[in-house]
Amino acid sequence: MAKTERRESFRASLEKQPHEVASMFDGVAKRYDLTNTVISAGQDRYWRWATRKALALRPGERVLDLGAGTGVSTVDLAKSGAWVVAADFSQGMLAAGRHRKVPMVAADAMRLPFADASFDAVTIAYALRNVADPDLALREMLRVTKPGGRLVVAEFSTPVFGPFRTVYMEYLMKALPKVARAVSSNPDAYVYLAESIRAWPTQSQLALRIADAGWSRVGWRNLTGGVVALHRAYKLG
Ligand SMILES: C[S@@+](CC[C@H](N)C(=O)[O-])C[C@H]1O[C@@H](n2cnc3c(N)ncnc32)[C@H](O)[C@@H]1O
Repeated sequence: MAKTERRESFRASLEKQPHEVASMFDGVAKRYDLTNTVISAGQDRYWRWATRKALALRPGERVLDLGAGTGVSTVDLAKSGAWVVAADFSQGMLAAGRHRKVPMVAADAMRLPFADASFDAVTIAYALRNVADPDLALREMLRVTKPGGRLVVAEFSTPVFGPFRTVYMEYLMKALPKVARAVSSNPDAYVYLAESIRAWPTQSQLALRIADAGWSRVGWRNLTGGVVALHRAYKLG
């Protein structure tokens, strides 16, 4: 790290107050993409590929990438020929991704600045866990989706194989903060990451909450043994 580079030291609490969450992401923005690749041992690229496949976007479709951060996934999704807009409430994250050639909008997931039935598909990757009221965000995503449209949520989840789950939880709580200290511009944010993953619902619990928000045909698939789960759902046509 260059001597002149300032390191933030700030993390949100698990109450996930929007201003705290937004400033925490402002603080990790500069090195966000690199840190992801390091702490996931390169798995992030596979997870993004699987998310893209689950969305199965077609040219000309209108797509919302919510909690898009630096737009790293938005660029990937736009390669399908769909029109994809990145939305996030962290100005720092959006600024760090400004070089990316995708439309970007400052927006809160709990009060989306889009009309009803605007999108063929909505996706939210590693962001729903950070929203203060995820159920409200799921209802907002439903509102802006066209009838017959689809949702894909990519989120950290619960490994299914017991012994692997134990090792993974140890990694999360002990090793991850150390690794983050070496690469991130705000290592404390990665303590929050570990704690928020532990407190997040399991695959089946999240599926129930997606259905409770009004989505239909909710299903999921595990990636990397359940470290990540992709939930897919549809808005009734
Ligand atoms: C871990 S990052 C994920 C970024 C990106 N989706 C990716 O796959 O790399 C989580 C993002 O969610 C955003 N976020 C959290 N709560 C939000 C909210 N209520 N509205 C909009 N964005 C939110 C944060 O600002 C942050 O950029």
